[in-house]
Amino acid sequence: MAKKKVKVGNDVFTVLLTEQQIQKRIRALARTISKDYRRTTPIMLCILNGAVFFYGDLLRNLSIESEVAFLSLSSYGSKKHSSGKVKLKSPLPRVLRHRDVIVVEDIVDSGNTLDYLEKALRKLKVRSQCVVSLLYKHENTKRRKYLKYVGFNIPSDFVIGYGLDIAQKCRTLRDIYRLDNSKS
Ligand code: IMP
Ligand code: MG
Repeated sequence: MAKKKVKVGNDVFTVLLTEQQIQKRIRALARTISKDYRRTTPIMLCILNGAVFFYGDLLRNLSIESEVAFLSLSSYGSKKHSSGKVKLKSPLPRVLRHRDVIVVEDIVDSGNTLDYLEKALRKLKVRSQCVVSLLYKHENTKRRKYLKYVGFNIPSDFVIGYGLDIAQKCRTLRDIYRLDNSKS
């Protein structure tokens, strides 16, 4: 059973999506992706660190062959707001060149990370690219064409759990929680 509330310092978080809701939605996403990519073997690019659990659960639910690749990015630092600056913490894997790439993200907030990656992958000359994001803060930015698959549209509040952190804490919670006092 999901805990109703989680306290981190002075911040109180309330459950937004339970493990059951998350896993059910991931199975549906995996079915759609498996159907759309049945004629090719995509490379699934995991955006570390936040997407790590989503990535594992999504890939194990695909019914097609896929290959794995990882990229370490950061834009949030330790604050609750995007710094706006996307930093590549590891080089873009060269194996992505001329391949069908599916970027696996935990959450799209300002869209800065998506835009940055789209340009970088285009420069690398991938054959095709699209993004699957578990969460999308749809009030914050207009939906990009290459954001092809979205798990859940959520409000703009800061969220934690299932890979998402607050200053590196709370990533291993199985459910997703939203900040109660979201003005901070
Ligand atoms: P964007 O570039 O503003 O779209 O944000 C991209 C990254 O910021 C995401 O991949 C997350 O790692 C992080 N992020 C955005 N919103 C949240 C949140 O509510 N909680 C934790 N991390 C977040
Ligand atoms: Mg991320």
